[in-house]
Amino acid sequence: MYAAPGNAGIAQLARCVPIDAADIDGLARFAREASCDMVIVGPELPLSLGLADRLASQGHAVFGPTAAAARIESSKAYAKGVMERAGIPTASYEVFDDPFRARQAAVAVASRAGSVVVKLDALAAGKGVVVAHGPEEAGAAVDSLAKGAAGNDGFRLIIEECLEGYEASIIGISDGKDVVTLVPAKDHKRAFDGDIGPNTGGMGAIAPAPGIDRDMLEWISDRVLLAAVRQMAQEGVPFAGALFAGLMITDDGPKVLEFNCRFGDPETQAIMPLLGIDLLDLVEASCHGCIGQMKADFRKANSTCVVMASKGYPGHYGTGAPIRIPTDLPEETVIFHAGTRIADGRLVSAGGRVLGVTAVGSSTSESRRCAYDAIERIGFEGGYCRSDIGLGIGLPGEDL
Ligand code: AMP
Ligand code: GLY
Repeated sequence: MYAAPGNAGIAQLARCVPIDAADIDGLARFAREASCDMVIVGPELPLSLGLADRLASQGHAVFGPTAAAARIESSKAYAKGVMERAGIPTASYEVFDDPFRARQAAVAVASRAGSVVVKLDALAAGKGVVVAHGPEEAGAAVDSLAKGAAGNDGFRLIIEECLEGYEASIIGISDGKDVVTLVPAKDHKRAFDGDIGPNTGGMGAIAPAPGIDRDMLEWISDRVLLAAVRQMAQEGVPFAGALFAGLMITDDGPKVLEFNCRFGDPETQAIMPLLGIDLLDLVEASCHGCIGQMKADFRKANSTCVVMASKGYPGHYGTGAPIRIPTDLPEETVIFHAGTRIADGRLVSAGGRVLGVTAVGSSTSESRRCAYDAIERIGFEGGYCRSDIGLGIGLPGEDL
C-alpha cells in the first residue's frame, strides 16, 4: 500500500511517496509503474482535476468521482442546479459574476432578512463562505471574497438565504446508482470556543449527530443523497465515491448547505471507529458497481474527534513544532494524523490541522472526556484545540 504524499500517521501502514496531490501526471505515472490494483482518491483537488478519470482510463479500479461529477463540490452553482432539478431542499440563492451587483444583492438581502450568506463559487478549503449579519458585514464579505479571488478566471459569487437550525453532515458511499448511508455526524466549523471566529475546515466532530432520528436519516438518505445520485446519473454524470451532504435541519426540515465529493474531515474520523464492517468492502462495492447489495453496520456507541491545530489556523501558522504522542493511550482512542511528518526522526507538525484525537464511549460525554484526556497527555507546543467539541449543541435531550 502506498500513500501520496501521506503523513507520519499513514507512514506506519503504507509507503509514502512524495507526489503532490495536485500532480495528476505524477500520480497517474506512479499508479501505472507500481501496478496499483485500486486507487482511493481522497481530496477534492485531484478529483476536480480529473485524477479519477485518468486512473480509470489506465485500467485501475478507482474510488472517487470523475472531474465532471466532482463539480458537485468544486462548483456551488452546479451543485445548486442539481439540487433544483432533483427537488432537493436548499436555501434560495442567486449567482453573480459581477462583484458590484453581488454586493448590491447581498446588502439588499441583509437589510431585509438581517443575515445573508456569501459564497465563493470555487474550492476554498472551507474558507470561501461568510455568514454576514447586517448590510455592512454583507458588503464587507463580498469585498473580501472578491478581493481574495481577484484575477481568477470565471469569478462567481453566490448570495444565499441564511438558514437557521442545527447542522449535520451525512455521508453516503455511491457507485453511481445506489447509496449506502453512514452514521450522521456533526462538525464544529468555527475556529474558537462558543462557535465564534472564522469558519475552518472543521475543528472537531461527533457521531452520531444528535437530532437526527432514524426516520429523518432515511428521508435524507432517499431525498438528498439518492436523489442527487439518480439526478446526476440521469444527466450523464454518474457520481461514484463518497458523497457528503452538509445539512441545516430547519423548522421546515433538512436543507442542503453544500455537497462535497469526498469524505468529510473531521466527520469521517468520528464515523470510522463506529463502522461495524470493513470500509474496504464498501470502497470495493463502489468501484465495482454493487453498492446496492451492501449495508453499513454501526456500533451502538458515540464518538468524539477533537482537532489539534497549529496556532493561527485558519490564518497564518507555523510548522515544524515537535509532537509527542504517548504510546499507552486507551484502546478506544485513535489518533488520526493530518498535517504531520517525520523530521530528523522526530514527529513534527506540517499543516494547519495536525491531529484528530478521537475516542469512543457509551455516550457523547464519555467519548468527549476520553478524547480530552488523551489531548492532555499529547505534547504539542504551538498547538491549540477547541475545548467545547460536543458541547453546546443545544438540542433537547443533549446528554452532556
Ligand atoms: P458550506 O461550505 O457551504 O457548507 O458553508 C460552510 C458553513 O457556512 C456551513 O457549515 C454553515 O455553518 C454556514 N452556511 C453555509 N450556508 C449557509 C446558509 N445558507 N445559511 C446558514 N449558514 C450557512
Ligand atoms: N467538515 C466539512 C468538510 O469536510 O468539508
